[in-house]
Amino acid sequence: MKIAVMGFGTVGSGVYRVLEENKELIAKKAGEEISIKYVLDLREFPGQPVEKVLTHDIQDILNDDEVGAVVEVMGGTGAAYTFAKAALEAGKHVATSNKALIAAKGAELMEIAKAHQVSLLFEASVGGGIPILRPLNVCLTADRILEIMGILNGTTNYILTEMTQKQTAFDVVLKQAQQLGYAEADPTADIEGHDACRKIAILSTLAYGKTAHFEEIPTEGITSITQKDIAYSKEMDCSIKLVGVSRSLPEGISAMVYPMILPNVHPLSGVSGAFNAIFVKGNMLGDTMYYGSGAGSLPTASAVVSDIVDIVRHKNEHIPMDWDTTQKLDILPLDEVPVRAMVRIAAQNQTEAEKEALEIFSGGRIMDLAEADDEFAVLTGEETEASLAEKIAALGQKYEIRNRIRMEAKA
Ligand code: HSE
Repeated sequence: MKIAVMGFGTVGSGVYRVLEENKELIAKKAGEEISIKYVLDLREFPGQPVEKVLTHDIQDILNDDEVGAVVEVMGGTGAAYTFAKAALEAGKHVATSNKALIAAKGAELMEIAKAHQVSLLFEASVGGGIPILRPLNVCLTADRILEIMGILNGTTNYILTEMTQKQTAFDVVLKQAQQLGYAEADPTADIEGHDACRKIAILSTLAYGKTAHFEEIPTEGITSITQKDIAYSKEMDCSIKLVGVSRSLPEGISAMVYPMILPNVHPLSGVSGAFNAIFVKGNMLGDTMYYGSGAGSLPTASAVVSDIVDIVRHKNEHIPMDWDTTQKLDILPLDEVPVRAMVRIAAQNQTEAEKEALEIFSGGRIMDLAEADDEFAVLTGEETEASLAEKIAALGQKYEIRNRIRMEAKA
């Protein structure tokens, strides 16, 4: 099969390299050779091998009947959307690593793919090189999914790990993550949780079979996390991780992104650096976890190329997914979601404040840190987000609330 690669950035150049270096074994697995006929990019690459197949015109790809599949690795929802849509309408399969595109336009693109009997695959859009969407779509079909909890963003996991292990400042670590090619072009998407939000939306869609609207998923990033918060979590034998969580609760499906205090015995808490992991609980299967490189050129390209291999193996058909694109996934309003939290409070009269905090958070417990003698923390029992927010606001009338971080129920 001849393919076109749209975008020659971090992932696109990785796709080129994977297909070059593993050419023969990929051909054996796919059943035929896969070669790149075009690379679409606005830039020139003088003297580089990619120059031979470079085009600046999408029409070259769309009008070429020899091109059976297109890889979209441009990112964003502008030209990436227009070009992916046009490719599907031209009867070409599409593989993409673009989580923003799938989270925003996936339902529409999937309908077009179905109508034209071609496939739209996006394994690399969540967890980079980690197989997670195909397992959900193919291997976990006997289960009702009860919970998905994932470390879905390499940049923030790298930052939190460095802040925890080396006490390095936030800005310094963020720069390192950018240099290592983990961060988004605008790292706000990483540190504010927007990238993880798109990914948990995609996971929720495939887990529950209806389109999750990412705009409805409450999202918090890691910019408020301080060394003090980390010190408290260490004292509790826990770690702070930015997680995307989606749960099937008796009240409905909840989905959120936030920094979470996780006990160190939880399998996700040992996931460090830029690695990602996705923990999935099925009602028959129990717990499973998928771990690996969630970002970077070659791991992400590996997942994209695996989609192309799948496409070649099913080149005359549309690969189905359990996704009713006409249905919206209802997400439980934040106020109704049950939660526990660590609330840090500063007070002149600490004894009185601790007593009051315990009256308000009945079932809670107080934690004092030797290195933070002007404050304490209350670890709350489980209650709804609305009730937690109300109680924090009430305490905030009298005392300084320094931070509140949600805790895993068992922490
Ligand atoms: N910026 C993303 C991350 C890249 O840090 O995980 C992979 O989606």
